[in-house]
Amino acid sequence: MSISMKSVSAIVAGICLGALAFQAQAADEPTRLRDAAEGLFLIGNAAPTRAFSDLIASDILAQDFNRLTCENEMKFDATEPQEGQFNYRAGDTLVEFAQKYGMKVHGHTFLWHSQTPQWVFQNPNDGRPMREVVLARLENHIRALMTHWKGKIQSWDVCNECFEDDGRPRGFSPWRQNIGDDYMEQAFRIADKVAKELGEEKVLLVYNDFNMYKPGKVQAVVKMVNDFKAKGVRIDAIGMQAHWQSNDDPSIETIEAAFKAYAATGCKIIISEMDINTRNGFRNSGRGLERDDSVQGNADSSADALAKRYGQIFDLFVKYHESIYAVTLWGIGDSWSWLRGGQPLIFDNNLDPKPCYYSVLESLKKGQKALKK
Ligand code: G3I
Repeated sequence: MSISMKSVSAIVAGICLGALAFQAQAADEPTRLRDAAEGLFLIGNAAPTRAFSDLIASDILAQDFNRLTCENEMKFDATEPQEGQFNYRAGDTLVEFAQKYGMKVHGHTFLWHSQTPQWVFQNPNDGRPMREVVLARLENHIRALMTHWKGKIQSWDVCNECFEDDGRPRGFSPWRQNIGDDYMEQAFRIADKVAKELGEEKVLLVYNDFNMYKPGKVQAVVKMVNDFKAKGVRIDAIGMQAHWQSNDDPSIETIEAAFKAYAATGCKIIISEMDINTRNGFRNSGRGLERDDSVQGNADSSADALAKRYGQIFDLFVKYHESIYAVTLWGIGDSWSWLRGGQPLIFDNNLDPKPCYYSVLESLKKGQKALKK
């Protein structure tokens, strides 16, 4: 087997990164996030397929994280672009990597208003009501994916982003339009039924959304979970995406209030897509960086400010570790992030750890020490 010069320099770069970029620690202390998070919660990252052919990115994923989410490759449009024609290739690449390094996998996502192909909502004109048609397509999709990745995926986002910030049902949802107001309940019932058929009852069924700290949304999600529980519909975890700001937005108190409300439902909490916007004049929302003048002069983009913010937030995660199943960062380094033009992640454009990497590490280490006392 021949190794190209490019591979050699990438390997050398990888070794240098390991040797130099990570600060030295006392011999018995964890130096990577994965070890420091042990006993607290799973620590995850979202990866596109190209990460697995990038030596430095894969080294980081394997050493710092123990849970992976496909950034796009398990979504409906990627896995079933045409009815009944499934494409698992990219998802398989992530799953194989996860298995090789003893990592858990999160499936993202079955039902979402975005990244769902048109055919799902097209009328086959065969006399069946559209509710029945779309529910059958959803069930077929869920069964195919859960069967293909049986035993390899530990949690699935069953429904994604179905509420407005004030708690009303999302205005635009072809799923709701076609199935009716009980569409989320139906999706969870289907996922649970299929999981039972496959002997996969342990797979966590998750509701995932952004701005999950906003009081209207908190109230609506808590109500939905309680309604489901009263009706015997299984829901195991609440995913808070955590696309947040570098200033005090949301505040630690606001996030804590949401944790208390969600933990009281008996569901686990998952921090599912964390990144922190540092860009002035823009707000980080589930829709992308949106212009927002109230953020003008307000987002502190310095590396130290971001480190402090990440540290404070992780201190809170540690405090609530008993309720938190996993914390996942949405991307590896800044240049990999969907938030173009910001520095929202804990590794920089060259995949070197930033000061916020170390504040996260310190926070986890403190939490782990407290556990051992
Ligand atoms: O695959 C096509 C490629 O063929 C084409 O050449 C290229 C040109 O733009 O686009 C590629 O698709 C892009 C896709 O990412 C894969 O890279 C889409 O344009 C782009 O819109 C898409 O963005 C993703 C976004 O979801 C879509 O809504 C982001 O990478 C992904 O990080 C983001 O993730 C979402 C979560 O799923 C749900 N919560 C919010 C979060 C951030 O928006």
